[in-house]
Amino acid sequence: MVIISWEKVIEEVVNTRKSVRKYLNDPVDNQVVKKVMESARQAPSWKNLQCWRYILVEKEENREKLAESLPSANPARGGIVQAPLTVVLCANPEESGVSQGKEYYLVDAGITMDHLVLAAAAQGLGTCWVAWFKEDPIKELLNIPDPYRVVAMTPLGYPAKEPKDQPRKELSEIVFAEEWGKTKEF
Ligand SMILES: Cc1cc2nc3c(=O)[nH]c(=O)nc-3n(C[C@H](O)[C@H](O)[C@H](O)COP(=O)(O)O)c2cc1C
Repeated sequence: MVIISWEKVIEEVVNTRKSVRKYLNDPVDNQVVKKVMESARQAPSWKNLQCWRYILVEKEENREKLAESLPSANPARGGIVQAPLTVVLCANPEESGVSQGKEYYLVDAGITMDHLVLAAAAQGLGTCWVAWFKEDPIKELLNIPDPYRVVAMTPLGYPAKEPKDQPRKELSEIVFAEEWGKTKEF
């Protein structure tokens, strides 16, 4: 029996997750979806207010309408139709905080979505953050009340092909020691 430590699992998931834009239409077991949503639920948030709500959209006609809310140039469009499920992430700006002009509902929403995305990857599922869409038609289609905002959505399903690696900045460009711009030696 091979025993893999949690540290390894987390490292593997974080370092190998990629945005998936081509999906199989294979269904995702309801209990697997529940596990993924359970991880999203555990995310930290401003004053623990948990300003997020998720809508799981499975009906093909609704997924097609969601896809239509994406500009045709959005490369994630096809995936919304192919994958058996799209998760729409909504958040309430009034159920989070604002500090020095920074609206933390977007941070809260980002964290919960990242939990979801990583939990999905751990289950062998693909996701792709989608934030380039027209919001109003989605609110109307899914009966989303004000003041909720549609922050993002992601297809959820089994990848049809392995996506390409996207480059990342070097650590030296993004990590400083003690003050801005000072190189950190590792
Ligand atoms: C806030 C946010 C919005 C995004 N919106 C879109 C989108 O509308 N369409 C799309 O194809 N990808 C979208 N992406 C995915 C990014 O393009 C992708 O994460 C990035 O290129 C890095 O690739 P990787 O996720 O495969 O590592 C978005 C990602 C984030 C975090």
